[in-house]
Parts: sequence; structure tokens; C-alpha cells
Amino acid sequence: MKWNSSLYDSSHEFVSRFGEGILGYLNPKTGERVLDLGCGTGDLTKSIKDAGVAVIGIDGSSEMIARAQEKFADIDFRVADARDMKLDVTFDAIFSNAVLHWIPDQDKVAQQMNAHLKPGGRIVVEFGGKGNNQQMIDALHSIFKDRGYNTNASINAWFFPSIAEYSTILERHGFRVILMEHFGRPTPLKGVNGIKDWFKMFGDKLFTDIPEPVKEDILNEVQIRLEPTHLLDGVWIADYKRIRAIAIKE
Ligand code: BEZ
Repeated sequence: MKWNSSLYDSSHEFVSRFGEGILGYLNPKTGERVLDLGCGTGDLTKSIKDAGVAVIGIDGSSEMIARAQEKFADIDFRVADARDMKLDVTFDAIFSNAVLHWIPDQDKVAQQMNAHLKPGGRIVVEFGGKGNNQQMIDALHSIFKDRGYNTNASINAWFFPSIAEYSTILERHGFRVILMEHFGRPTPLKGVNGIKDWFKMFGDKLFTDIPEPVKEDILNEVQIRLEPTHLLDGVWIADYKRIRAIAIKE
């Protein structure tokens, strides 16, 4: 996945804004060291630092890290993949917002998170849960099928687990889950093309091998199909469902 950090900051800043909710669960204490896993352009990393703790932000995208470093020169940002990160320090807490659903191999991520925590350290994470954006994805799949793009209709771009599935992974890798929530969070999108822009920003993989003009046509059709359910008082609303979790390294 290639990220456009400017588009991300200008049109999809809600990712960080909504992340402020999970930040309340982190409850950082003076003297702690926190890892922001998948820090993007660094807005929440900055909020963590402002809470008075030492923080390192990592992201798999060098473009995101370059932008984060440009915005917040005094924070330690590094390019690293959560599945095989080898940081030279351990942490009191690992925080992650709106990232884990992008990573297919969650066993590796859980294992790495455990390895980078001090004993008794915690993870505080939020990401897409089972059924996330399901109506939007279903509308797109149905159009793919109508047009004979059956392979595209079966592309699975994200990891959206249930509470049972994600708890099982964490427990397998030495965590005790102390809180997990799975809740709907209808999310307003910016602009008259909110749905189209959302798929352009986040759903590129779903359109693998579809020519650009056809993609544009399909996106127009998706938006029309979703109008009755997703356009409320002139604002596009995405049907997000989130998982929030806190777990302790045993
Ligand atoms: C999310 O934050 O839930 C999300 C964002 C983009 C694609 C899929 C899920």
C-alpha cells in the first residue's frame, strides 16, 4: 500500500481525530516509554509526547515518517514493520490507532508487541472490527459481480476480527485481555464525493487490475447505490465498526 501523506492529512484527518478517544485509554504516566505503532503523520504521537512521556513513533511507510518528522522534528520517528520490528528498547505501553487492520499476519504482530514490552506492560489498540465498512464493501462487491470482476469481489484487503478472534490471538502470544469493545462508529466523510474519496484513499487494492476509467465509473455507481443509506442531510457517513482493546503482558 502506497500512502499519500498530504491527502491523508487534508482529507482523512478524522483518523487521528477519532484516535483521541483511544488515547484516553492509554492513560500515560510520567516517566513511561510508549511506542506509537503505525504512527502515520504523527499527530497522535505528538499528543502522547505532550502527556509527558518518552515516545517513539514507527510506521511502515517512509513517506508517512518523512512527513511526521517534518511536522514534529523533536520526536523519534522510525520506519519499521510491526511484523519484524527490532527496536533497541522495550516499552511500558504500545499504542496503535487505525493500523492493525492493514496487517494480515496478526500472530507476528502480537508476538512482536509482546517482545517489545516490559513485563506487565500494556497494549492499547483500536482498529476496524468485524463488519467494518461492510455495507460499503458489499455495495462495491455487488457492482464488481454485475460487471464480471469476480476476482475483485473476493479480494480481502483488511483484518477485521471479532472480539473472540482477536482475544484468541492475543492470548496465544502471552497477553491477558483486560478490556475489549466492538462498537459501531458512524463516521462523517468530507466533501460531496466522500464515499469515492474513501475508496480512493483506502481501497486501492480492491481495484487491482481494473483500468482507471472503469474504476471511476464503478466508484460513481457505488456512491449512487449508497445514497439512500449513507447520505444523511448532505453528509456522507461511513459505517465504521471498531475494536478497542487493552491487554497486559503476563
Ligand atoms: C478503519 O480505520 O477502520 C479503516 C480505514 C481504512 C480502511 C479500512 C478500515
